[in-house]
Amino acid sequence: MSNVELKRAALADRDIKRHGPEAFEGMRKAGRLAAEALDMLVPYVKPGVTTAELDERVLAFALDHKALPAPLFYRGFPRAICTSFNHVVCHGIPGDKKLAKGDIVNIDVTLIVDGWHGDTSRMFAVGDISRRAERLIEVTFQCLELGILAVKPGNTTGDIGRAIQTYAEAQRCSVVRDFCGHGLGRVFHDRPNILHYCDDGEGAGSVLKPGMLFTIEPMINLGRDGVKVLADGWTAVTRDRELSAQFEHTVGVTETGCEVFTRSPAGLDGPLIRAS
Ligand code: MF3
Ligand code: CO
Ligand code: CO
Repeated sequence: MSNVELKRAALADRDIKRHGPEAFEGMRKAGRLAAEALDMLVPYVKPGVTTAELDERVLAFALDHKALPAPLFYRGFPRAICTSFNHVVCHGIPGDKKLAKGDIVNIDVTLIVDGWHGDTSRMFAVGDISRRAERLIEVTFQCLELGILAVKPGNTTGDIGRAIQTYAEAQRCSVVRDFCGHGLGRVFHDRPNILHYCDDGEGAGSVLKPGMLFTIEPMINLGRDGVKVLADGWTAVTRDRELSAQFEHTVGVTETGCEVFTRSPAGLDGPLIRAS
């Protein structure tokens, strides 16, 4: 979501949808298939592969499984997935760019299954990567896990952001502020906004309640937090051209905490996954 959308939604933070068991069943299926699409890609994310080839594989995978990739034609987005490498923060458009040894790339898959959206992204290392790129990926992975641990009824969306920001900044990294996580379900981008930082104290944001469905998707930079969107209208890059990383899961709030719908069934969603 962009900054403008974010502010508009903040004005209307009432009426956040709460879903029942049937929705959770739908989200489990959609989340699992999105995670399996990323698992399927692991062996292909190697030096020389183009991001367009990865996009085509996910499109074929989706259609084979009676799913649709949500980004395709979403507000004019031309491809099925987002591929964001190195200094690209998010919303990179797959194309002829060949990945090279040392690159890091976020692949973001959203699949619609029976009307429900499963939205998840991971970092992939292309061959051997630098120690600092490795560290950024580890910090970002941990940020998402800490955000997930903050999800339980009675906590607020601000608690999620605070957990992420506190850890990221203690690790001398910065949190991107121009994009956030989002409610989803039958809709791709819904209320509430899930900011990955929190400037306010306890109780900031919306109170989390059982049945809420949303993503957490921190974008963490090695340098400063500033980003700009390129002339294609989508690709967001760091202003200082330093490395950026992101991980994303889709979760549902339960009575006691949350359920993560997009964990890898094959256990391939840790930090530093690469083709062998
Ligand atoms: N999957 C992205 C997210 O996490 C959104 C991509 S929308 C697109 O919200 F149009 F850029 F593909
Ligand atoms: Co998302
Ligand atoms: Co996503």
